[in-house]
Amino acid sequence: MTEEPPTRVNMEKIVSLCRRRGFIFPSSEIYGGLSSCWDYGPLGVELKRNIKEAWWRAVVQERGDVVGLDTSILMHPQTWVASGHLEGFSDPLVECQNCNQRFRTDQLLRVKKDGRYFTAPEGREDKLIERLGNAGFIAGTVTFEPTTSQDFLDDKDRLPCPFCEAVGQFTEPRQFNLMFKTFMGPVEDEAGVVYLRPETAQGMFVNFQNVLNTTRKRLPFGIAQIGKAFRNEITTGNFIFRSREFEIMEVEFFVKPGTDEAWFDYWLEERLSWYLKLGIKKEHLRPREHAKEELSHYSRRTVDINYLFPMGWAELEGIANRGDFDLTQHASFSGKELTYFDDGTKEHITPYVIEPAVGVDRSVLAFLCDAYDEEKDEQGEVRALLRLHPTLAPYKVAVLPLSRRENLAILAREIDADLRKLWMVSYDDAQSIGRRYRRQDEIGTPFCVTVDFQSLEDNQVTVRERDSMNQIRVPIAELKKTLQAKLAGEDFLVLPAGGKVWKEAEKGGV
Ligand code: GAP
Repeated sequence: MTEEPPTRVNMEKIVSLCRRRGFIFPSSEIYGGLSSCWDYGPLGVELKRNIKEAWWRAVVQERGDVVGLDTSILMHPQTWVASGHLEGFSDPLVECQNCNQRFRTDQLLRVKKDGRYFTAPEGREDKLIERLGNAGFIAGTVTFEPTTSQDFLDDKDRLPCPFCEAVGQFTEPRQFNLMFKTFMGPVEDEAGVVYLRPETAQGMFVNFQNVLNTTRKRLPFGIAQIGKAFRNEITTGNFIFRSREFEIMEVEFFVKPGTDEAWFDYWLEERLSWYLKLGIKKEHLRPREHAKEELSHYSRRTVDINYLFPMGWAELEGIANRGDFDLTQHASFSGKELTYFDDGTKEHITPYVIEPAVGVDRSVLAFLCDAYDEEKDEQGEVRALLRLHPTLAPYKVAVLPLSRRENLAILAREIDADLRKLWMVSYDDAQSIGRRYRRQDEIGTPFCVTVDFQSLEDNQVTVRERDSMNQIRVPIAELKKTLQAKLAGEDFLVLPAGGKVWKEAEKGGV
């Protein structure tokens, strides 16, 4: 148990912002919602799309050694026999016989003090701290090592239920398979059983030979895929952190055996730096090495990139060394050769695989939590804002005419139409300019362009920056160029245009 820095934002604030401003809604809400399923609203869909595009750009477009793929969700059922999912993709489920709550033993928060155990469900560190405090032990924030199946069995009779606190009331753990089953064709019998994929990885392994033959790639090379995955999770929650339907972004990077350890380290660094480049704070990221007994059936080594979510440190991304497990299994079950001809040694080899895999929805949550901030403005009022990296911001620019008067509206609409050719733009002419700035701050729009009556005279507009609230006066003819430079991260307040120095307006108001 270690002391941790306090988290900066609570989950309720993020959930409320997402709902209020149209990032994320509960699924089928008019029917009361569907447990752990979520719908992305107009802003959420843009944020999610931008995250996926930034990932694709980094792992496919900007590299020469990774190609993309989009495989089907339903696959031949033998796939899941070969991959080990039918046999081993399960979680240890127990039930408390006192309150009938079910939970995963490996998601139990557990701490021992003076021979006595305290527990709480995953994500409820606050509850555990409260329980420790009530019993006269330390408070503060805490993190916990995972509870292995053996830990649970060893302590089962002395552990209190994380929900009702009854001691030693657990059933024996049983393995619960997480795959969703459905039927192909009109007859619902065993012959028609198919599964919704729990990961996109297998679609890439079964296409290994197709990709090799059509792209003529040489080792090392990778395949990348983004797509929906489904897991019938025992316990869900913490908003979009763990749900039953989610999106995943995965790379299968094929390397020569013997070079796998170095490539593992490479990908871990690569992925960590991706988050940092997109604005996640270094102190909110932490790699966690899996202990031997924790490793999945296919993994030789796994390191999680953990993020400090509002409920505590938890997995954001996993990097695994899958060795030759998958290609060997699929070759054996399909009877097809899934090897690579090494020109150097003139031998057929089965490559090893390094796999960085991250949930899109979990990234959305991490980027939102990291960007959320509150600060007092010059009038002492609290300003809530999302300091999203411009690459991820749903809208890059907002166009705000100072009034709805026709002559201003015509000019503002012209500017709006012109900027839309390059970016997602928000046009807002309702309420006071101060309120409109706040609305854009709260959804993370990096720049507001204000069109005022002076604009009709001098053909200039005011550009206001979200984070600093600094404002510059920019000729309309130079607007796109200025915003392009600003969005690319160039830091300036005043730009010379045609030899002139543009006027810097007062900070905070037009
Ligand atoms: N092919 C490897 C694989 O699927 P995983 O660790 O099971 O690995 C990868 O999943 C990532 O997918 C996780 O790091 C997490 O970000 C995300 N993820 C897993 N289960 C999830 C769930 N139920 N809801 C949302 N995201 C999930």
